Amino acid sequence: MNINNNAALSLRKLADSDMTESEFLRAVENNLIPMQQFFTYYKCAIMEIETKFRVLNEQFSINGESNPIEFIQSRIKSYGSIYRKIISHNIPRNLEAIESTIFDIAGIRVVCSFVQDIYRLADCFLQQDDIFLIKKKDYIENPKPNGYRSLHLIVEVPIFLENEKRLVKAEVQLRTIAMDFWASLEHKLRYKKDLPQYKLDMLTDDLKKCADQSAQWDIRMQAIKNIIEHD
Ligand code: GTP
Ligand code: MG
Repeated sequence: MNINNNAALSLRKLADSDMTESEFLRAVENNLIPMQQFFTYYKCAIMEIETKFRVLNEQFSINGESNPIEFIQSRIKSYGSIYRKIISHNIPRNLEAIESTIFDIAGIRVVCSFVQDIYRLADCFLQQDDIFLIKKKDYIENPKPNGYRSLHLIVEVPIFLENEKRLVKAEVQLRTIAMDFWASLEHKLRYKKDLPQYKLDMLTDDLKKCADQSAQWDIRMQAIKNIIEHD
């Protein structure tokens, strides 16, 4: 455990009982300083990774190309969401376990203009000698059954603090505007679970069709770009 020992001790109490979500949130509040320290590592990892993508975006434009990145969104996973993951994945309630099993506490979403930009940016990013790839999930090559597409990279990045260097895990999602448009709307619709099964089946089917259609748009836009550039 790299967090200071007092923090580790007080947080280990989180493992002791079957807490409800509100009890967990209260325990988090009572451990605010070590928790803030813990989350600061992830904030720093986000800063490092965002900067790397912004640098690549600038460099591509120096080469006379258009910027490959439309926008970047980052977030730290909320306490409530961490709690739900602890429960659903049966993770012990202490910081070491959370740090070593939850890889998306720091999340960076890089939304690109074209599909090829995703792979080019991902390659450049992963070639950097301070980025360690832990896991790659290519949901563009292999979309999820519901039609979800994106390239996911779980990486470790070093952050340099006053007296230590720490490796921090983060999840980078790279997607096009079309993939982001679909995923954002699908995410909003997913939670309406009180619908009858036949309607859910119909909507699942319809959402999958929308995903496949937007993937076709991506392919066509990329083809148009390729023709313009190679003319
Ligand atoms: P989590 O436990 O949710 O993190 O899933 P996982 O470990 O199986 O990882 P996966 O790479 O499949 O998904 C991680 C993240 O990708 C999610 O938190 C979402 O941000 C995004 N994602 C994955 N599948 C979907 C999907 O079907 N719809 C939408 N809208 N987003 C998705
Ligand atoms: Mg997640």
